[in-house]
Amino acid sequence: MIKIIKKLEEEIKLFKINNIEDLEVFKKYFVGKQGLITKLFKNIKYLSEQDKKNIGLSINNLKINVLTKYNFFKQKWHKLEEKITTNKSLKDLTIYSNLFEIGSRHPISILKNKIINIFSKKGFTSIEGPEIEDDWHNFTALNFPYDHPARDMQDTFFIKKKMLLRTHTSSVQIRYMENNKPPIQILSTGKVYRKEVISIRSHCIFNQVEGLYVNTNVSFIDLKKIIEYFINTLFNDIPFRLRPSYFPFTEPSAEVDIYLGLNNKVNKIITNNTGWLEIMGCGMVDPYVLKNVNIDPEIYSGFAFGIGIERIALLYFNINDIRIFFQNDIRFLKQFKSSF
Ligand code: DAH
Repeated sequence: MIKIIKKLEEEIKLFKINNIEDLEVFKKYFVGKQGLITKLFKNIKYLSEQDKKNIGLSINNLKINVLTKYNFFKQKWHKLEEKITTNKSLKDLTIYSNLFEIGSRHPISILKNKIINIFSKKGFTSIEGPEIEDDWHNFTALNFPYDHPARDMQDTFFIKKKMLLRTHTSSVQIRYMENNKPPIQILSTGKVYRKEVISIRSHCIFNQVEGLYVNTNVSFIDLKKIIEYFINTLFNDIPFRLRPSYFPFTEPSAEVDIYLGLNNKVNKIITNNTGWLEIMGCGMVDPYVLKNVNIDPEIYSGFAFGIGIERIALLYFNINDIRIFFQNDIRFLKQFKSSF
């Protein structure tokens, strides 16, 4: 029996295990119901009391050897399997993930970028200026008289005396002309602030696009042509009109209305039942403004225009309440997709 035990010991050591199937065969072969070691245990009863003890221990050691080898391989493969599955999830880039939702651009940004794009095709360069402004850039240099209503606490958010939240992007005209000589052809965009009652048609924060062109021999015809180009490009040949108006920084000045008609609810609301929607102010840069920034009005002339983006956005996206642009309701924002 001792010989058999020695032989089995050797056999257990040398048994080749190459895969999971081999492993199960190995276990069954030695310690299964009909296994060699199980059989040995069964024969123990024919031995003397003394041998029973010694040989029993040896057979038990054989069993331990088998189970140790079995567990060793089992664990090794288990770890290997785990590694393979975790590596898989790291490396398989095609696996669907819903961790992040891709955002979309705000409709106001979409339209702003579209407008910048339209004007850039005519040579305008887009720039930005500060939203906290001083009295000089927002009012004085733009030729606002000291008693102009826009300077009033009713209209302007003052931070302290002579410091305010800009009420228009025209302030950036001044900043640019102070530091650059003609020819000048810029577009400045951004948020502006006014103490207005919030309603479906107006808000205390809104966005503007300001255009400025200064050169020799610039005339009102140049201004009209650029406005015509802009409206035709954005709205596909919609009727428009220039209405005489007043701005302290332009002379002559005009407001531009586009004709929408009254054939649907949105048009009625946003045109205040007139069919006409005012979308911008414009004019020839006042000689006093040029003087304020040391540009000689005897040599140079220019035009400027200021566009309210939200007004146009109502029409462009067919929306009837301006307040929705500021609510950041994800259900609203998600509907806008753009390459701009
Ligand atoms: N700054 C004016 C506003 O906020 C808009 C404007 C009108 C800008 C005429 C201009 C302009 O450049 O020429 O109401």
